[in-house]
Amino acid sequence: MHRPSSGTAPTGVTRAGAGLRISVVGCGYLGAVHAVCLASLGHEVVGIDVDAERIGLLARGTAPFHEPGFDEVLREATGSGRVGWTTDIAAAATCSVHFLCVGTPQLDASGGADLRFVHQAFDSLRPHLSPGDLVVGKSTVPVGTAGELAERLSREACGAGLAWNPEFLREGCAVQDTVRPDRLVYGVCEGDERSARILDVVYADLLAAGVPRIVSNLETAELVKVASNAFLATKISFINAMATLCDATGADVVALSDAMARDPRIGSGSLAAGLGFGGSCLGKDIRALYHRAEELGVADSLGLLRDVDRINQGCRELAAELARQACGGDLDGRRVAVLGAAFKPGSDDVRDSPALAVAQMLHAEGAVVTVTDPKALDNARKQCPQLVYADDAEAAALDADVLLLLTDWPEYSLLDPTVLARTVRRKTVVDTRHSLDAPAWRAAGWNYVAPGRPHA
Ligand code: UDX
Repeated sequence: MHRPSSGTAPTGVTRAGAGLRISVVGCGYLGAVHAVCLASLGHEVVGIDVDAERIGLLARGTAPFHEPGFDEVLREATGSGRVGWTTDIAAAATCSVHFLCVGTPQLDASGGADLRFVHQAFDSLRPHLSPGDLVVGKSTVPVGTAGELAERLSREACGAGLAWNPEFLREGCAVQDTVRPDRLVYGVCEGDERSARILDVVYADLLAAGVPRIVSNLETAELVKVASNAFLATKISFINAMATLCDATGADVVALSDAMARDPRIGSGSLAAGLGFGGSCLGKDIRALYHRAEELGVADSLGLLRDVDRINQGCRELAAELARQACGGDLDGRRVAVLGAAFKPGSDDVRDSPALAVAQMLHAEGAVVTVTDPKALDNARKQCPQLVYADDAEAAALDADVLLLLTDWPEYSLLDPTVLARTVRRKTVVDTRHSLDAPAWRAAGWNYVAPGRPHA
């Protein structure tokens, strides 16, 4: 493990007091958290984004999204004066390290990544780079992208270098994952030791705390991110495939997963069966990885990613089928109560939310779907205005023919089944995330149904 001997920046890198002057281009979940955490590490940071509303909120010390712990570090960093926010990319000119944190959404049905924002950010930053500056990519990109950008910098002989430093943060624990990541990965061009030394200064506190650091070439660093996400997605789909087998045999996937997880080679992470993965990363990343493999002529080796995606989609269809069965096979005019809209608990993000996907399937079959969520109602309303929204579980469950738990917010596991039993029209609950105490719900008169678990 490497520990920097001192916080001294390599020559030519602009210092600000004890830290560096750093720009962060793109202030979404990743960039905003990264900017604020860099400021908390003692650097002087400017966060830059084209979205004036987002920048306005951040400048006022208001988080534009729900992320536990973020409000505190944002307020602290804003109060200390070490972070500034602007829509003006020219502000990057005073900095010597520039992080690219823009999104790379799915382009179209091909599954390829849309690199428009990466190129726009890079093009707008380019005139403000000085000799000795370092551009550091954090966005998730198809392997080969960083090499192209590095080549461009060297062709244009602007004297700035490029490194790739993927981010592994999970929404809901983004701050912790940024200040204490499992590892730091630096992708650098062959023979480029200076970039790694600069990143060592950026992350001096993390390295001193023992965070492991891996230096690789650019291609490996790009791949570490997508390969890690593809592996996590594969684990989730694997246990969901086992859930299907459990349903066919009477085995219990919750006990199966628990027993498998005790093997330290397997571990418990991403081994919870249920409704599968959603969000802005896993699905998009496996598709982009497969698409890139196709472009490179090696798709045959990555065919399993297609199955991972298919199994994941199957989880959503199974949840809809369980709701349909609970309503006697026909959802038309039935009232469905949905607990959860966020793609996972601890977040208000509804991008590719499995919960909203299922809610929409049921609505498309004529059901009146009422959704509740502790944090994501505003985002859900914007994305799915056709659904009905309620402030809490009891209001959502009023006269429901079936109750579906689709996002595993901890508060839902504390719901009182006796109270809800008085609210609904029919007492069937579909617990797609295995969050509820099945015996307690059954004791309160509910027909408790969960994928991969024996029916009583
Ligand atoms: C993921 C990666 O974990 C993170 O390292 C990467 O940087 C970005 O993508 P995130 O999308 O925030 O992070 O969420 P994660 O906690 O991995 O969950 C993704 C989805 O999988 C959620 O919808 C979650 O509900 C689901 N999931 C997760 C399961 O279905 N089962 C599990 O065991 C774990």
